Amino acid sequence: MKLKIAVLAGDGIGPEVINQAVKVCDAVAVKYNHEIKWIPALTGAAAIDAVGEPYPDETHKICMNADAILFGAIGHPKYDNNPSAKVRPEQGLLKMRKKLGLFANVRPTFTFPSLIDNSPLKRERIEGTDLVFLRELTGGIYFGEKGRKDGGETAFDTCTYTRKEVIRLAKKGFELAMTRSKKLCCVDKANVLESSRLWRETVQAMEKEYPEVEVSYEFVDAVAMRLVQWPNSYDVLITENLFGDILTDEASVISGSMGLMPSASVGEKHYLYEPIHGSYPQAAGKNIANPLATILSAAMMFEDAFGLKEEAESIRNVVNKSLAAGVVTEDLSRDKKAYKTSDVGDWLVANL
Ligand code: IPM
Ligand code: MN
Repeated sequence: MKLKIAVLAGDGIGPEVINQAVKVCDAVAVKYNHEIKWIPALTGAAAIDAVGEPYPDETHKICMNADAILFGAIGHPKYDNNPSAKVRPEQGLLKMRKKLGLFANVRPTFTFPSLIDNSPLKRERIEGTDLVFLRELTGGIYFGEKGRKDGGETAFDTCTYTRKEVIRLAKKGFELAMTRSKKLCCVDKANVLESSRLWRETVQAMEKEYPEVEVSYEFVDAVAMRLVQWPNSYDVLITENLFGDILTDEASVISGSMGLMPSASVGEKHYLYEPIHGSYPQAAGKNIANPLATILSAAMMFEDAFGLKEEAESIRNVVNKSLAAGVVTEDLSRDKKAYKTSDVGDWLVANL
């Protein structure tokens, strides 16, 4: 197969982890006889520095024309404590999601048998956890009307959803649930928020189209608690943008390291794959960041964007092998030897 992949390394540890994923994908391509053309493009603080814009039109063009997009991370500390910065790297990410129509953010959380004791949570709580969040990604409070009034003394952000937006996300949730254990949880705050009541009413109306799926409705504050108490009780969860942002960071603790969890952001036409961790600027350039979340995101890309299941499995298998062999970066090595980011990539390539 001929594959054209846009590669947006971004900021911080983005380029280092992306390099490893590219190496692994190239090795998979050799093994299974595919031809990958990588098309690098600028994003984030790196793009602001180069062209004054975190998601330049040129990058958008490249993404529009690619079969899939592999994304590193964006964010730079020089913008974090400067609320008055006019352009911010994060705006690039939001603009990209909106312009490419990536409305569904798929964020799985699972455990690796060899890493169960890396999680700060007790083994008996988390063993066997295998859940997926579908986070709505192009609506809600991230994109609603926002501003200041009263001469800057009052600030507001508005959470807005249309029924159509809820339906298209929920549809993905029901469909995913049908391929798994047929359990769907709709996470909202319908006891307080009108937008949540629209979510709940819309999902309830869709239930009859999926009679086999058992749907539960839970408030986000309760889910935040149950997620770490009984993660095993969940399978597919659907939720709005901000709730999903917060809960998926929380869920990553179950797996033992944020450096492990992959994600996909998908729409009608475009597919983007990225680690759920951020740019981790403290580690940038040190060759210590865990590349596995990005590499596992590439596995999702092979499976979902290209329909290449065996290729995806080969990546997951070799990752499991590296974990079992203790070929891990310092976030996972505990008192044993820590491998460098590039050493982990090299090991995976050699073992593919
Ligand atoms: C994420 C990130 C982004 C978000 C930030 C960087 C804008 O936290 O992808 O979860 O809030 O969506
Ligand atoms: Mn986040």
